[in-house]
Amino acid sequence: MENMDWSKLGFDYHKTEFNARYAFTEGKWSEMEITGDEYIKMHMSASCLHYGIELFEGLKAFRGIDGKVRIFRVEENAKRLQSSAERLCLPVPTVDMIVKACVEVVKLNERFVPPYETGASLYLRPVMFGTTVGLGVKPAKEALLIIYCSPVGAYFKEGVKPIRVAIDRIQDRAAPRGMGDVKVGGNYAASLMSGEKAHHEGFSSVMYLDAAEHKYIEECGAANFFGIKEGKYITPKSMSVLPSITNKSLRQLAHDMGLEVEERHIPVEELPSFDECGACGTAAVISPIGEIHDMQTGQTLHYGDKVGEWSMKLYTALQDIQYGRTEDRHGWCTIVCE
Ligand code: PLP
Ligand code: COI
Repeated sequence: MENMDWSKLGFDYHKTEFNARYAFTEGKWSEMEITGDEYIKMHMSASCLHYGIELFEGLKAFRGIDGKVRIFRVEENAKRLQSSAERLCLPVPTVDMIVKACVEVVKLNERFVPPYETGASLYLRPVMFGTTVGLGVKPAKEALLIIYCSPVGAYFKEGVKPIRVAIDRIQDRAAPRGMGDVKVGGNYAASLMSGEKAHHEGFSSVMYLDAAEHKYIEECGAANFFGIKEGKYITPKSMSVLPSITNKSLRQLAHDMGLEVEERHIPVEELPSFDECGACGTAAVISPIGEIHDMQTGQTLHYGDKVGEWSMKLYTALQDIQYGRTEDRHGWCTIVCE
């Protein structure tokens, strides 16, 4: 790691030293196991391989201005992991188990937490899947929960520069009353083809619309959408959108800054009226949207190539908390290395 150019890191896997594991067998969870092994051995008929009984999480640890390492909102990710596990009829680990493993993995891999001011962070990836051997479509009785980490840089290579996104109505990400509101692998598999099409046409991400009517904005690739106008922070309300923890935090910060916060349907026709809009998520942080192209109508909306005033204020406020530059007024950070 000594020779690592942290500021050049992209969003990719880099080997670290330790990961944490819990196995669910015979109706109970094992103790946490710490290992250096990056591999797992699994039966070819394990339920995750055939029926997509798999979920994951994503959260970050930051090296602060004071040298301390902070994990951002780990309990929130643990609760969302629980809701994904419930939805897939998997055994549900406790918040405590997940938090303990995240803290341990960061502590044990502290030398992989990028230095302050490199813009990089340590990404934690909890992943859980059914390992029961069988052929029938039924809930898994055995499961494995692994928490590993990797140092990462920017998700979009543009960094905080505005991105270009494309609206696609040919393929949807998630159905109403489907699994869009939980973080399961199948949603990402479903998004690949439209994502590839958009990438080939030079866009960073796909903007998905609601699958029932293709009328309302849902998500921006693997990030939530927000728009700003008339002193309001506006973000979609939908049963098929993932409840983003970054978005939840931005709603609080927007409120703290005196913006009104609205969670509601956002019709596509409303897009031109926003002064600023962006994509937000753990990996994406805030990525301002500079252009929205409709792949079906051929129309393009331009928001400009500069980061908007409110997007910048929100981005700064969020990162100030994550990097310990300001008081953590809402108690979002867990300090793991002093
Ligand atoms: N929406 C989707 C589909 C995602 O994959 C993510 C990433 O986790 C988000 C939104 C943002 O959620 P969060 O801010 O909790 O990372
Ligand atoms: C995250 O933002 O943590 C995500 O999970 C996005 C990921 C699918 C790349």
